[in-house]
Amino acid sequence: MARTKVTIAGAGQTGGSIARRVAERGYADVVMIDVVEGFAAGKALDLNQTGPLMGYPPNLIGSTGYDESENSDICVITSGFPRQPGMSRDDLLLKNKEIVEDVAGRLAEKSPDCKFIVLTNPVDAMAQLVHSVTSFSKERVIGQGGILDSARYRTFIAWELGVSPEDVSGFVLGGHGDAMVPVPRYTSVAGVPVGEMLSQDSLDAIIQRTRDGGAEIVKLLQRGSAYEAPGEAVMLMIDSIILDQKRLFPCSVLLEGEYGINGTFVGVLVKLGAQGYEGMIDVSLTEEELAALHKSADGVRELVEIMGV
Ligand code: 2OP
Repeated sequence: MARTKVTIAGAGQTGGSIARRVAERGYADVVMIDVVEGFAAGKALDLNQTGPLMGYPPNLIGSTGYDESENSDICVITSGFPRQPGMSRDDLLLKNKEIVEDVAGRLAEKSPDCKFIVLTNPVDAMAQLVHSVTSFSKERVIGQGGILDSARYRTFIAWELGVSPEDVSGFVLGGHGDAMVPVPRYTSVAGVPVGEMLSQDSLDAIIQRTRDGGAEIVKLLQRGSAYEAPGEAVMLMIDSIILDQKRLFPCSVLLEGEYGINGTFVGVLVKLGAQGYEGMIDVSLTEEELAALHKSADGVRELVEIMGV
């Protein structure tokens, strides 16, 4: 039986962080692709030589071409320009459109049965672009932003309360942009609703910091954007798909009437398993929460229209 194969397009910080994690799992061969000559090959070689130290098989390949990616089970797209200080995720739209369109087409040609995980920003619009370019079913194109946003949200709540983030459960819906929708009504701390533990003012501040979470890091780094938490977020998705774990995560998928949203990729709570996106948890929302979700989806739709997808 062929070994599981995961291809990661874009060998930058995020691509490298995902490749390292997948390699450490030991269950898949990893192909890294990058347009810069030698870049993916160099990272792959470094990670192969880490294998004996970490105890994983040195099965990574780095390339500028797509042949090695043939018959991948999962293709992750991180290719494109990262945010710079002062830029919003949306500012990357047209630059990254060209890159993602090309990369997705080439990957799909080599791996017609793969599942796509899209991470390039603005991620919801890019996931929609990949869906459109490849004509893959909606189960096989999933964008990632919500796990990352939820991790930030949980971290800030844990800090505020002085408890372990493992005991903070909650999710952020909507697009991975300024209009994302944290849902405190479904946030709990060891089962206790967060509203009973934090004042509205504290929660509001946490929600704002979550919305600004990516920009906060970009401003500090001055070069590039976050990559460790995004890398781990994608790793959890890969685990759930390859190991058929059926985990529930906020991810960006094509909505076709759910929540009254039609034909737009936006973050909702989904089940990930061997088939990819296997279903959605239809969380009941208040009028206000629903309006916030629609506003976020409208933002994604505008970007998609600008791209002419
Ligand atoms: C972030 O929020 C880069 O979108 C990514 O950090």
